[in-house]
Amino acid sequence: MKIQTTPEMPSQPRPIIIIGAGGIVNDAHLPAYAIAGFPVAGIYDIDPAKAQHTAERFGIPTVFKSITDLLPYLPGKALIDLAVPGSAIIEVLKQLPDGTAVLMQKPMGNNYEEAKAILDICREKKLTGAVNFQLRYAPFINAARHIIEQGGIGELIDIEVNVNVYMPWHLWKFLYGLPRVEILYHSIHYVDLVRSFFGNPGSVYARTVKHPAMDDLASVRTNIIMEYEGYRRAAIHTNHCHRFGLRNQQSYVWLEGTKGAIKITMGTLKDYPKGTPDAFEYISLEGDCAGQWQTLDIQGSWFPHAFIGSMAQLQRAAEGSITAPGNSVEDAIHTMACVEAAYRSSEKGGEKII
Ligand SMILES: NC(=O)c1ccc[n+]([C@@H]2O[C@H](COP(=O)([O-])OP(=O)(O)OC[C@H]3O[C@@H](n4cnc5c(N)ncnc54)[C@H](O)[C@@H]3O)[C@@H](O)[C@H]2O)c1
Repeated sequence: MKIQTTPEMPSQPRPIIIIGAGGIVNDAHLPAYAIAGFPVAGIYDIDPAKAQHTAERFGIPTVFKSITDLLPYLPGKALIDLAVPGSAIIEVLKQLPDGTAVLMQKPMGNNYEEAKAILDICREKKLTGAVNFQLRYAPFINAARHIIEQGGIGELIDIEVNVNVYMPWHLWKFLYGLPRVEILYHSIHYVDLVRSFFGNPGSVYARTVKHPAMDDLASVRTNIIMEYEGYRRAAIHTNHCHRFGLRNQQSYVWLEGTKGAIKITMGTLKDYPKGTPDAFEYISLEGDCAGQWQTLDIQGSWFPHAFIGSMAQLQRAAEGSITAPGNSVEDAIHTMACVEAAYRSSEKGGEKII
């Protein structure tokens, strides 16, 4: 079986203009675009020093002084990569000309209300809007999807994401004081990943709780069950408060089918931000290697390589190779709806015992 790990690419990538020169742009967006060969034409940040610093670091030719300065390049000529906090997305979208193609960072607003407002603006202004839910395009997920599409594990009936790590949340100062942290900023990737395989669930059960050692943050540990009909099961378990060394940290995606299974160890999240190697293991009950676990050596990881796939989708939609990005706002709104349902479920609590 031939296994593809790379995403579908645009034939003629357009120049990218970045708005927001923060951590994720420096750590993931720009390194990914350099690997992919996506041209970056300019950058803007409300903090000019950050824009200047990032431009120098990555050789970006133009630093814009305002959003107005970059408008002549839109729409049609360049794409916008918007990497500002969720609460600033709407004010920026309002300033973009109709028809602009824009990839915005997740989350799509702070809650479902804001997500709907973002969707409405995109519809009104006919923006080609996409959300940077990039885990679904990570090389190890591309590989898993390709195996599944070829029938390698039969019918996919079980998805489990299990993360038990120490997350240095203090790296993201903006999280302190927010009413929502873990699901909105982290498990949202897994909710989106499950949706990318199973589609929209009928309902969601969840419980998300705080941790005494991280009391100045909203909830940081979560269990989510996404409910599907028939044999399908999807569960997400995250604990970001494992302070007991690397030995028993774990971080994996388990995909089980009727004829086989795939286990993806996401090394990035262990010993964060240093990370550990990923691992990709799979087994089939049929074929030449029936009943034997095999490993696949995959080039690239979640950070930064998955960010190639989310931008490639926008590029391909902008050039007309596909009608809409797979990570379009029209799709992403359903991930936001699941997140909202998860918070509602957690507040409501479970079924009372008698
Ligand atoms: N895996 C992922 O997809 C991932 C990982 C980390 C962060 N993020 C998301 O990316 C976004 C940014 O995160 P970060 O870690 O880079 O934060 P950051 O605070 O390091 O950077 C945000 C930048 O946006 C700038 N900014 C704010 N408002 C602006 C505006 N109106 N116009 C122009 N620039 C503006 C700030 O000056 C800052 O430089 C957040 O929404 C976060 O959730 C996603």
